[in-house]
Amino acid sequence: MNASPVQHQQVESNAAKPAVFVRGVTKTFGVGDSRTVALKGVDFETREGELHLVVGPSGCGKTTLLSVVAGTLDWDAGEIEVLGTRLNGMRKGAVTAFRGKHIGFIFQQFNLIPTLTCIENVSVPLLLNGVSRQKAEATAAELLSRVGLGDKGKKRPTELSGGQQQRVAIARALSHEPRLIICDEPTSALDRDTGHHIMDLLSTAARAPGRCVIIVTHDPRTYGYADRITEMEDGRVGQVLEGTALQHFVDQHS
Ligand SMILES: Nc1ncnc2c1ncn2[C@@H]1O[C@H](COP(=O)(O)OP(=O)(O)OP(=O)(O)O)[C@@H](O)[C@H]1O
Ligand SMILES: [Mg+2]
Repeated sequence: MNASPVQHQQVESNAAKPAVFVRGVTKTFGVGDSRTVALKGVDFETREGELHLVVGPSGCGKTTLLSVVAGTLDWDAGEIEVLGTRLNGMRKGAVTAFRGKHIGFIFQQFNLIPTLTCIENVSVPLLLNGVSRQKAEATAAELLSRVGLGDKGKKRPTELSGGQQQRVAIARALSHEPRLIICDEPTSALDRDTGHHIMDLLSTAARAPGRCVIIVTHDPRTYGYADRITEMEDGRVGQVLEGTALQHFVDQHS
C-alpha cells in the first residue's frame, strides 16, 4: 500500500480533451441577511486522463462547485459542460440520467443508504444502469474487497466506522465505471496507509482512457497524486498549479 505519486514532468496534458468546462458560474444561497454568494464567477477546467485537486479554505465554495458540476445543484449564471455535454438548459430528468450513467460522486457526508447493506449500497449505481442484481452484487463484493472491506458486505453503514463508511462510498462511486469521478474529501476519515491505497485506486481510475477524477481535499497526503491543483478562495478560482509550480507546492506541503 505504498504511495505512487505521478511524475509531473511526464504529463502531456495539452493533448487531452476537456472533461469539465466551467465558465463564469455564480451561485447564491438564501436571501436578505442570510444571503451567501458561494460562487462569484468561477472558471474551472479539467482534462480527460487527469486527476485534478481543488483546494481552499473551509467555506470557499468547493462543495458548491462540485455539486453544480455533478448536476445535483442549480446555479444562477454561467456555462457548464461535462464530458462534452452542455448542462445549461438540460431538463432535470435528463441531468439525473446523465449523472447516473457517467458520474460517480463521493459526498463529503458519504450519503450511504442506512437501510441497505454495504453490498446493496455499492450495487445501486449498477442496478440503475440496468445490470442484473446477481452481477451487480458480485461486482460490489469485489469492489468492497478492493477497498479493504471484503468482510463487511452484509453489514449496514451504521455498523461501520467513519473511515469504513467512506470506503463504501468510494466503492459505490467506482462501481459503474463512470467517466467522471467527483470526490469531496475522500481521505478525510482514513488512516495513512488506507488513504494512500484509496488514492492509488482513484489515480488508476483517472488515467483510464476518457476518464477524469476531481477531488476536493484538505489532505496534503493527496497532493503528490495530482496532475493539476486548482486553488479556490472566497467563491473564486485563484491559481491553477501544474508542472514546476505544482511540484513546488507538493514539496512545500510534504
Ligand atoms: N445549502 C446551503 N444553504 C445556504 N448556504 C450554503 C449552503 N451550502 C453552502 N452554503 C454556503 O456557501 C458557502 C460555500 O459553501 P461550501 O459548502 O461550498 O464550502 P466548502 O469550500 O466546501 O467548505 P468545507 O471545506 O468546509 O467543506 C459557505 O459560506 C456556506 O455557508
Ligand atoms: Mg465542502
